[in-house]
Amino acid sequence: MLIAPSLLSCDFAKMGDEIVRIEKAGADLVHLDVMDGHFVPNITIGPSIIKALRPHTRLPFDVHLMIEHPLDYIDAFADAGADIITFHVEASSGIDETIEKIRSRGIVPGLVIKPRTPASAVFPYLDKIGMVLVMTVEPGFGGQSFMADMMSKLIEIRAECERRGLELLLEVDGGVSEKTISAVADAGADISVSGTGVFKAKDTAGAIRSLKGSDDKDSGLFNAILGKAAKHFQ
Ligand code: DX5
Ligand code: ZN
Repeated sequence: MLIAPSLLSCDFAKMGDEIVRIEKAGADLVHLDVMDGHFVPNITIGPSIIKALRPHTRLPFDVHLMIEHPLDYIDAFADAGADIITFHVEASSGIDETIEKIRSRGIVPGLVIKPRTPASAVFPYLDKIGMVLVMTVEPGFGGQSFMADMMSKLIEIRAECERRGLELLLEVDGGVSEKTISAVADAGADISVSGTGVFKAKDTAGAIRSLKGSDDKDSGLFNAILGKAAKHFQ
């Protein structure tokens, strides 16, 4: 399991230091939650902060857009140094056009589904994207409870990928902690986001280690998908 700590739960006054801290503690990616106050009832960070954070780490930036019009901002997040950009199928931009725009900037595109959206909503796009992110909380806030019943979506999406001979990364976001990680691992996720589970832990490295688990999953697929695009990941 690869671990992507969500900066939403870090000390916002020390973001650069927090990134260095999680990189040293064994994080695999940095998960950046972008919220616009329209798509979700919260406002967080935008491209200028992400750009300022970019020089602080070599870890890939996994940018999760919870915004109503993602297409309008792809260039800004690409310029800021995103390696993966995920956006919601429930947002208002054209999905094909947005995927195309992300790809044209050499970035891995991914689609996100909210808890009430069925897995099948991403099926028409699976051959054009590198990742599917399954939300296990309603997007908007950190620290919510994990919805275990979302795990069946991972299994459905993986089965559809296998049926069509596609290799995609599956990521889970929301309420992932030492208590819930085994369900995520059993459902076959490649990457887990964890905000409170990492940043509120007394021992950050210990928390990341235990989330990763003993089953040292081969990260070949991750490297293959990221390697095609990533400018920062080596
Ligand atoms: C929620 C965000 C998540 C969240 C995860 O809208 O997308 O990334 O910050 O935080 P935890 O792990 O605390 O649920
Ligand atoms: Zn997120």
